[in-house]
Amino acid sequence: MESQHHDCQPLRMEGGQYIKELTDSAKTACLFFTPKENDDVGTLVDYLEHFKLHKVNLIHIESRSSVRFPGRYEFMVECVPGSGNLGAAIESLKQTSEYFSIISRNHKNNRGSVPWFPRRIRELDQFANQILSYGSELDADHPGFTDPEYRKRRKYFADIAFNYKYGETIPRVEYSKEEIATWGKVFEKLTKLYPTHACKEFNHVFPLLIENCGYRKDNIPQLEDISNFLKDCTGFSLRPVAGLLSSRDFLAGLAFRVFHSTQYIRHPSMPLYTPEPDVCHELLGHVPLFADPSFAQFSQEIGLASLGAPDEYIEKIATCYWFTVEYGLCNQNGNLKAYGAGLLSSFGELEYCLSDKPDLKPFDPPVTALQKYPITEYQPLYFVSESFDDAQDKIIKYAKTVPRNFGVRYNPYTQSVEVLDSKPQVQELMQQSSKELLFLSDVLKRIL
Ligand SMILES: [Fe+2]
Repeated sequence: MESQHHDCQPLRMEGGQYIKELTDSAKTACLFFTPKENDDVGTLVDYLEHFKLHKVNLIHIESRSSVRFPGRYEFMVECVPGSGNLGAAIESLKQTSEYFSIISRNHKNNRGSVPWFPRRIRELDQFANQILSYGSELDADHPGFTDPEYRKRRKYFADIAFNYKYGETIPRVEYSKEEIATWGKVFEKLTKLYPTHACKEFNHVFPLLIENCGYRKDNIPQLEDISNFLKDCTGFSLRPVAGLLSSRDFLAGLAFRVFHSTQYIRHPSMPLYTPEPDVCHELLGHVPLFADPSFAQFSQEIGLASLGAPDEYIEKIATCYWFTVEYGLCNQNGNLKAYGAGLLSSFGELEYCLSDKPDLKPFDPPVTALQKYPITEYQPLYFVSESFDDAQDKIIKYAKTVPRNFGVRYNPYTQSVEVLDSKPQVQELMQQSSKELLFLSDVLKRIL
């Protein structure tokens, strides 16, 4: 589906870098290269000649210190799709570059390119232009389809999310009495089941949400408060989302420990049913476990595994996400407990999933990734994890089967994903790790 088009605004300098405003990034190709010789930052001008010669328009240009060739520079240019002869420009650039790679939204038509993924946390802003359907476009069978007031409200929430930019405070919403009453019904029913049906990590965090974020029967908590709470616990944060994201984009958010959350609530006519994620699903189902360090790490690993993966692998990783983060069960002291958000936010399915009706299989990514599942009824089959640490190890192992000729690593200092594809990068990281180990062994000596 085509994204909404936004005109690109002129390049401007800020803090010594070129940054772009808003651009239609749906099909752009980003080229990264390090020139072979005459390597000073002024060389960029010579290299831009390749694009001029082949009439390729650029919408964004950056220069950075190279991590692959210490002491040298690396350039990134973003090309306008369909302008000039991009193939010819790429060929001539490749011949004069020491290092060259392409990350492209339109990867199927750009042979040898890696599917686009965000490398900086602020690039998640681009997803707002990529949503598959706007939050106010309801299907004919949606309980709110014929309710003009509800649709108006959905548009209000979708607009908040659409205009949200990284780093901003998430706008607080004044929920109506009717909306709070709907939340209250869901809250009351579910909280009765949690002590017996939810995993221990969930039950550990839940009282903290009551205390710190206003989780109450008569109050719908605010995304901003929850996001701040999660940042303190695990570095996870929330972003409001205007509509359905592609699996690729949604999973990419997790790589940055960012969870895309809806802010609207289901239609009041059916408080115990929603055909799509709503604030009850996100805040009751998802949020508690993002405050658990081990679960947060597991979720981020799923996200990292998805970055730059071919389409067929995105589907497999999204299926693993479905059977864990959404519908996962786990074994705790010999008892089966729920940790998936789809279960923890559905009164009926939370009871059903721990009954003897559904089939159970151990969580095993190569098997789980191929499992088909229904989306409008209770799951006939659940996968059981031994622990979040165990699930995390399995996902890391599975990520090794994703065909990528680079590694990805999240750098929390720069809030960016590093693409690791050279020796100097790996050596540098190994040095850092050994310093870290020395530090830890010193601490051990002090406290023993
Ligand atoms: Fe969900």
